[in-house]
Amino acid sequence: MSKAKIAPSILSGDFADMANDWKKMLGNKPDWLHVDIMDGHFVPNLTIGPPIVKAVRKRIPKGEAFFDCHMMVQNPQQWVKPMADAGADQYTFHYEADGDVAETIKLIKENGMRVGLALKPGTPSSCLDEHINNVDMVLVMTVEPGFGGQKFKAEMMPKVQEVRALAPKLDIQVDGGVDASNVCSCADAGANVIVAGTGIYGAEEPAEAIKLMRAAVEK
Ligand code: DX5
Ligand code: ZN
Repeated sequence: MSKAKIAPSILSGDFADMANDWKKMLGNKPDWLHVDIMDGHFVPNLTIGPPIVKAVRKRIPKGEAFFDCHMMVQNPQQWVKPMADAGADQYTFHYEADGDVAETIKLIKENGMRVGLALKPGTPSSCLDEHINNVDMVLVMTVEPGFGGQKFKAEMMPKVQEVRALAPKLDIQVDGGVDASNVCSCADAGANVIVAGTGIYGAEEPAEAIKLMRAAVEK
């Protein structure tokens, strides 16, 4: 099994004080920070872009935090270089977005980032066939992308199992509505990278929530 990685989604953090908020979350010892980038086209919501990621990166240097960037954007190729320049460590784009998937993967690698490929709930795992050996991570969305705080779709667990069967050592991420009540089902299905916004930021003790999630994957 691939190593557990717990990634709080900064979508649930304080957008008015981002650098301090991200630093504070790092005090809870997550593995990664999950940075949700939305363009108002691919999803009906708008968050932050490369200039803000770059500004926060200046306060949190590379090596101090892994920026796992989830690009909910219509044109993923457009943002590869700006995000690399901003200091992103991993660039996860959506299969359903514009542009040739293989070309986008290549471009991300050329720009020195790890590559993630994300599937919306309606997209089958068969779409991964020709790409799975070329990516570092697959993200199986467990809500429709766009907003935090939605209800976890348990019906996505068979898809996680299918991806795990295709790639026994790959990082497989789940994102959307994941919390203490369902993290075990995600881990049992084969996910090892757990994103949680509400489930960590909303927990009484975020550090404990992170520990619990890590234990669920490593059990
Ligand atoms: C949703 C985002 C998620 C979101 C998760 O489109 O991709 O990362 O922030 O938030 P929760 O855990 O609250 O569903
Ligand atoms: Zn996300």
